Amino acid sequence: MEIEFVAAKAALAEKTALAVIVFEGDVLAGAAGELDTQAGGALSRAVAGGRFTGAKGQVLDVQGASGAAARIVLVGAGKADAFDDLAVEHAAASAYGAVKASGLTVLRVVLPKDGADTAVRAALGVRLAAYRFDRYRTKEPADKKPTVIKTQIVTSEADAALAAFPPYAALADAVAFSRDLVSEPPNVLYPEEFARRVKALESLGLEVEILGEAEMAKLGMGSLLGVGQGSIRESQLAVIKWYGAKDKKAQPVAFVGKGVCFDTGGISLKPADGMEDMKWDMGGAGAVAGLMHVLAGRKAKVNAIGILGLVENMPDGNAQRPGDVVTSMSGQTIEIINTDAEGRLVLADAVWYCQQRFKPKFMVDLATLTGAIIIALGNDYAGLFSNNDELSANLLAASGAEGEPLWRLPLPPQYDKNIDSMIADMKNTGGRPGGSITAALFIQRFANGLPWAHLDIASTAWKKPSSVPTIPEGATGFGVRLLNRMVADKYEG
Ligand code: BES
Ligand code: MN
Ligand code: ZN
Repeated sequence: MEIEFVAAKAALAEKTALAVIVFEGDVLAGAAGELDTQAGGALSRAVAGGRFTGAKGQVLDVQGASGAAARIVLVGAGKADAFDDLAVEHAAASAYGAVKASGLTVLRVVLPKDGADTAVRAALGVRLAAYRFDRYRTKEPADKKPTVIKTQIVTSEADAALAAFPPYAALADAVAFSRDLVSEPPNVLYPEEFARRVKALESLGLEVEILGEAEMAKLGMGSLLGVGQGSIRESQLAVIKWYGAKDKKAQPVAFVGKGVCFDTGGISLKPADGMEDMKWDMGGAGAVAGLMHVLAGRKAKVNAIGILGLVENMPDGNAQRPGDVVTSMSGQTIEIINTDAEGRLVLADAVWYCQQRFKPKFMVDLATLTGAIIIALGNDYAGLFSNNDELSANLLAASGAEGEPLWRLPLPPQYDKNIDSMIADMKNTGGRPGGSITAALFIQRFANGLPWAHLDIASTAWKKPSSVPTIPEGATGFGVRLLNRMVADKYEG
């Protein structure tokens, strides 16, 4: 999607759809009113003839407004006093959604509020909404394909908007990169292929190290390696480094992602129904990779580390068994009760390695860790678990600002004994009650007392259906926006 910022009087190209975003209850004020006059009252006639009120998400096709544009749509933005950054994004995204497959190639967006900030947010909304994963479609009928390839945002501050847009474009690129990783089928995106795609990010200025099984074995990562041992695909650990702070030696911030490229459950095999969803069990690693992409893309003034534990969990003659005991890099031993509780085993070694090697200010891990978080929070909120109130507050603030909801859940010490084992230091499941909590408590045992937060994104990494216009169905890229925002607001400069 090409983005332009244009003045109100800029000439209309052919094949342009004009989307006029309007406030609820005041639909023909400002720019919309001027357009109505130019269009001989076509907009006011369309509004008078129907039930369009300008409520959020409403779309009204204006018929017969000839001369002005090939097509005019009114898009409701809701109440003027609630028109914050996210509302701007959503309105522009809805405008795109209304005309994307209209046959027209250009979308021009007229906003009910002027200014570079608003224009830039609208552009971001369109970029996010226009994401599509169509690499494997060869026979899609032409009339179903999106046709809009360029969006013009009308603003009196076009130069300022253009100057302010690059970090938002970097964010949209990174979210798309993350969504691509999560959307790829598991026969294409196995651990080594994931690692290759991350290695290619060196072109953005990131440093990427890839550790294979031999190197991880030397480090004693028996917990992570046990998960991948039933797969013919080699497990990988990707270490992504961005040194953007003035002081390259300043203590970094760190992010760790669960990258289970496919989760069959292993010997504790999952039921067939819905198992294809487990291609997106690498959503945590996908979010961390996307975060590092945007930090480099916008040259963030921070030192940041991203660590991805990349494995495939398969049943096989060589697969790990329930009852096995593995030794993690930390030296702590783990009795495997259920081979389907594999994400925490991957994170145990990745988190331990992260704090040992980089001594970061804090660690945030992201993981599609438990089905229980979906039961607890539904599909809009990810679970937040943390041993640190300041880090939690920073995550929650960024979450609200970026529209990626988090809900904090407790880490009660008295539940920690549920993962004590009879024969090892711990076991990898704590039973059904509080399943997301005991999973988080397990990871906490590998944070070594550092400020740490865990985001269980099993509920939010994939959306079907989606009710948010900036998030098309499928891979959401959840986490990229909120972590980017937290870094920008709290840890840069
Ligand atoms: N990857 C799954 C969790 C999951 C479920 C992600 C649904 C996305 C959607 C995880 O590895 C898993 O299998 N967890 C088990 C843990 C249990 C065996 C303790 C679960 O949630 O059932
Ligand atoms: Mn599993
Ligand atoms: Zn899993």
